Amino acid sequence: MPSDAYANDRAHVFHSWSAQGALDPLVIAGGEGAWIWDEDGRRFLDFSSQLMNVNIGHQHPKLVAAIQEQAATLATIAPFHANAARSEAARLIAELAPGDLDVVFFTNGGADANENAIRMAKLHTGRQKVLATYRSYHGATAGSISLTGDPRRWPSEPALPGVVHFWGPYPYRSAFGSTSPEDETRRALQHLADTIMVEGPSTIAAIILEPVVGTNGILVPPPGYLAGVRQLCDAHGILLISDEVMAGFGRCGEWFAIQHWDVTPDLICFAKGVNSGYVPLGGVILSQRIADTFRDRPYPGGLTYSGHPLACASAVASIGIFREEGLVERSAKLGATVVGPGLEELKERHPSVGDVRGLGLFWAIELVRDRETREQLVPFNASGSDAAPMAELVAACKAQGLLVFSHFNRIHVTPPLVTSEDDLRAGIAILDDVLSLADAHVA
Ligand SMILES: Cc1ncc(COP(=O)(O)O)c(C=O)c1O
Repeated sequence: MPSDAYANDRAHVFHSWSAQGALDPLVIAGGEGAWIWDEDGRRFLDFSSQLMNVNIGHQHPKLVAAIQEQAATLATIAPFHANAARSEAARLIAELAPGDLDVVFFTNGGADANENAIRMAKLHTGRQKVLATYRSYHGATAGSISLTGDPRRWPSEPALPGVVHFWGPYPYRSAFGSTSPEDETRRALQHLADTIMVEGPSTIAAIILEPVVGTNGILVPPPGYLAGVRQLCDAHGILLISDEVMAGFGRCGEWFAIQHWDVTPDLICFAKGVNSGYVPLGGVILSQRIADTFRDRPYPGGLTYSGHPLACASAVASIGIFREEGLVERSAKLGATVVGPGLEELKERHPSVGDVRGLGLFWAIELVRDRETREQLVPFNASGSDAAPMAELVAACKAQGLLVFSHFNRIHVTPPLVTSEDDLRAGIAILDDVLSLADAHVA
């Protein structure tokens, strides 16, 4: 029998990012693997891994058991005590991270990871400015929303002083008029070098970027771009922060997305996929060099729940599950053999599909009204009736039992890494069906 959950939600729950009056949330009763179901027993294939975080799928029995076991042993402890779950989670994460990134500061999620990373970078370098890209999302706290390069920042302005935005690469809609991915790399790096020059290299503590941009388009960097950013950082004593909150933990077919390009950043921020969000957890992985800055000098930052035992025990169990089930490799393989080819076929069949791109299980379908001009199916930051063509698509997917994430003129395909090949194909078949709605807008 349906509970009072819906009525109480509408009466008492204030939701993120939303005009509260317009909401009509599903009441989710349970889930398993790539599926969730509502109180009426309607089942949905979760092609967005909720908010791109449920990498090991819903209700993984081993992860649930690890949380239950930890709750029975030690449910909570202050951050200044050591505990077995936190120590082991830190050891495992350091083992996975590239280079000398060996030390972990735990946070409650992604935004506070980025807050702390920029604090560490500023204190380590003694510099004040941080460069961040347009078309990025870094979180909704004061500093992280300032770093964010999308319209979600606008209502929080004036933002944190010292954040300067620059354009990252986006071959399909180049800000630089480039003609190939290689040209895009060259021009984007020149633009960044120029930005550093005019901002003053000695004033810049860090460059923060998403190695593969998530919400703002699944923008896979063209060859050589991240290595070029690393070189610019090294030339000017600037730290490189890789925001892997969405792209990390197998989403892109590597433990950390930046490992695709053999680039080692100075700080990595993580959250989401580290434990699939079964308990809130995020963190910053520091290079030994940066950690040493705070060997004799106190680090001026902390959180009551830093390294919470339930969250850390779930991270330990989750990393074990990734390894046992080969989920990082699975993500890479399914992206290359099922999702990538499946979406390319959609592009062949549907004139509204301008571009498909991604890697691992991190993909976007970019929709246009005209393939020649690349006019977007809906305008940048569209809302209300302007956004209706995208809202129609999402609703049509939902009516067929498929949950997808959409942003501006894109549908993202980011299923749990445990999704079966049959379910991936079934979800893509539903997309094939509903894309005829988008095709109807093509001139
Ligand atoms: C790249 C990136 N960084 C940071 C965040 C913020 O994480 P949280 O919502 O856990 O604060 C997100 C959330 O979507 C993200 O995608």
